[in-house]
This record gives sequence, structure tokens and C-alpha cells, in this order.
Amino acid sequence: MAETGSLLTSLECRACCASVDPSRLVGTCPTCGHALLAQYDLARLDARAWVGSWPARAPSLWRYRELLPVQHSSQIVSLGEGYSPVLPLNDVPAAPGVRVRLKDDGGLPTGSFKARGMSVAVSRARELGVRAVYVPSAGNAGVALSAYGARAGLPVRVYLPERTPAPMKVGCRTYGAQVVEVPGTLREAGAAARAAEAAQRSFDLSTLREPYRVEGKKTMGLEIFEQLRDEEFPSAIVYPTGGGTGLVGMHKAFEELRALGLSERRPRLYAVQPEGCAPVVRALRDGATAVTPWEDPSTIAPGLLVPAPFSSERVLEAVRASGGGGVTVRDREIVDAMAELARRFGVSASPEGAATYAALGSLVRTGAVHTDDTVLLYNTGTGLPFSLPELERLVAGASEGASPEAP
Ligand SMILES: Cc1ncc(COP(=O)(O)O)c(C=O)c1O
Ligand SMILES: [Zn+2]
Repeated sequence: MAETGSLLTSLECRACCASVDPSRLVGTCPTCGHALLAQYDLARLDARAWVGSWPARAPSLWRYRELLPVQHSSQIVSLGEGYSPVLPLNDVPAAPGVRVRLKDDGGLPTGSFKARGMSVAVSRARELGVRAVYVPSAGNAGVALSAYGARAGLPVRVYLPERTPAPMKVGCRTYGAQVVEVPGTLREAGAAARAAEAAQRSFDLSTLREPYRVEGKKTMGLEIFEQLRDEEFPSAIVYPTGGGTGLVGMHKAFEELRALGLSERRPRLYAVQPEGCAPVVRALRDGATAVTPWEDPSTIAPGLLVPAPFSSERVLEAVRASGGGGVTVRDREIVDAMAELARRFGVSASPEGAATYAALGSLVRTGAVHTDDTVLLYNTGTGLPFSLPELERLVAGASEGASPEAP
């Protein structure tokens, strides 16, 4: 058995059923190019004893190390990520009578949930002998990789859309990463990154193009189970969806908990996207098995400006299997939600996280969410790098006919 207790057995491709030895350094499926997902020997875990061991463990996502891929604790690259608080939001005006909770990843290292995936992926990459890493990013993933790369002693290159908020660019550089700015959205940044890196020996940490960031994001679901497993367990989780890896990760967590006999409950997952870039919501509505790229994407929420998520089949499958759905919000509503979360509840939410709060009204109106529900909103990042007056100006400009731009 691995020294960490990791029960990792293989990497599986759900598209073509290929199985890959996880001791190999791989990105996507060598047969068909889709995402690979880690599998564990769950039968070897004494599930009740495992749950019983959690309280004595340090409050980070590494408390779930048996269901994470790293084999040697000396390879773990940690900044204390995970185990974020769940806050009650009482008397939300848009959702009268509904129990609303908010899981707040804004306090994680580098200010977002991206720390989860990067801690696990950088640890595993280093364990498998990787010497340099790169990522195309909307901002937060780049900052997180810059920090974890620095801690691991790996050189990092980050490809950012030119319009990425300045604090994110500064953040990457502060951690010593090289920043390459690319015109366009994350799609163009990804294409530029892959073209530029093809001749290098650097490893691609793009979401779902390597198998382990999603394992870090899986801990969002494991934590929700640990923190709320009694009567507070959410019947619905509202999640701001860009690439959708968080949805794939949480779905995987609930599947593994079910396979372990720990929980039959599966919260309905709701994907929230901005009206100006909603390829996942559109595909859910149309009954499609994969997304078609969104034309002319635009939103003030940088992490949701993802017109063509990779391996979207897995994202759609996660939402559908949970019995959930998709919902869009306007940029104007996102900015109002940021202000309301801050002023009514003392919560600093990123535009992405605030989009979940903005979605509550339409989820209630359409009957997707009702008074029997406990709804968990996922705040994926802190709002501190964002200026509300600046976002206000952007959405006001947009409503006068100008085209909205990412800040
Ligand atoms: C703050 C924030 N929330 C949500 C997302 C989207 O995450 P996912 O890829 O899991 O859909 C991002 C991605 O950049 C982000 O930075
Ligand atoms: Zn495959």
C-alpha cells in the first residue's frame, strides 16, 4: 500500500473505456484524447473507520488522502488548502423560506477554490517527475499554480487572456511565474499555450487535460458530506460553471461516497452561467451530450468566460445524473449579488461565486428550488481583487448598448 494510504488503482476514460496505469505521466486518454478519471480500490477501505479518523486529522483536503492520488507524503505540496467554512445565509429575500447555506472558498490560499486542484495536481506531477508546468487560465488557476509551483520548486508559465483582472496578473508574477498575455478568451489562451509549449518539456495542467486537478476539486463534495452529513445535508448545490470541473469533481465525490456505503444522498447540481456565455446551460436545455462553442462570449465574471469547455460530456453527465439543471444570470444581477452578499451577509464573493446567489430568484420562480430544500451556494473565490464601482460602470455601459468586456 502507498505510504499515504492512497488507494489509487488506475485512470479510466469514460469515452472509450481505456484504462491507463497511473504510475505513467499522462494528460488525456492516449486512445481518444478525452479526460481520464482516477479510480480507487474502494473495497479496501473500512469506510466507517475512515470517516471516524477525520476529526483527528489536520483541517486540509489531505485529510481525504486515501481517495487522493499522491503516494508519498513527502511529495505533498500544501499551503493549508481546503476545509472551508459553510455559512448560513438567513432570510435571503429572493428565496423566502428556503434554507440557504454558502460554502466559502474565498479564504483558501490564493483566494479561490483553484488551490484545491492545484495542490493535488502539482503534488502528483512532482511525484511523477515533472520538472516544469504551464496552464492557460482565466486568472485564479494561474495564481494558484504560481503559488504551488513556487512551493514545489517548479518553474511555472501562465497564459492569461489580455483582459484578465490586473491583480491576477500581478499575483502570478509575485510568485515568480512567467506570464504570457494572449488576446481573446481562455479558448485562445489555451490554443496559444499548447502551440508555444509543444516543443518544450513542460507539463500541461489545463483543467481536465490532466487527471488530478479534478481529484482536488472532488474534495469540495467530500467536505460538504463531512460538514453537513446530518440533517443539514444540502438537497441542491448551486455552482458557477466555467470549465465545469467542479461539477465533475463533486459528482465523483458523491459517487464514491455511495460506492463506499456512506451516503445514498445525491444533491441536485445546478450549473450557473452568465447570459453572455452559457454553453453548458444551453446544452442541458437542448438535451445535447456535448456543448457547442458559444459565439461572441462576454461577461464580467472571468472564470465563467469559457466558450468551449473541454470534455463537456463529463460536465453534462454530472448535472443530469444528479437530477439538477442549468440557469443563466445577467451580469447586472451578478454585480447586485456581490453587493448584497457583502452588505447583508459580510461575505466577499467573486463575480463567479456571486452568480450562484443571483441565480436563487429564478431557481425559486421556476420551482427548481422550494421551501423543503437546503440549498448550498458555492462561493468559489474572494471578491477582494474586484472593484464594485468599476464593475458597475461596465454593466451600466453594456446596458446603454456598448458591448460588455471582462475587466
Ligand atoms: C472563481 C471561479 N469560479 C468558478 C470557476 C469555474 O470553475 P469550473 O472550471 O469548475 O467550472 C473559475 C474558473 O476559472 C473561477 O476562477
Ligand atoms: Zn479514451
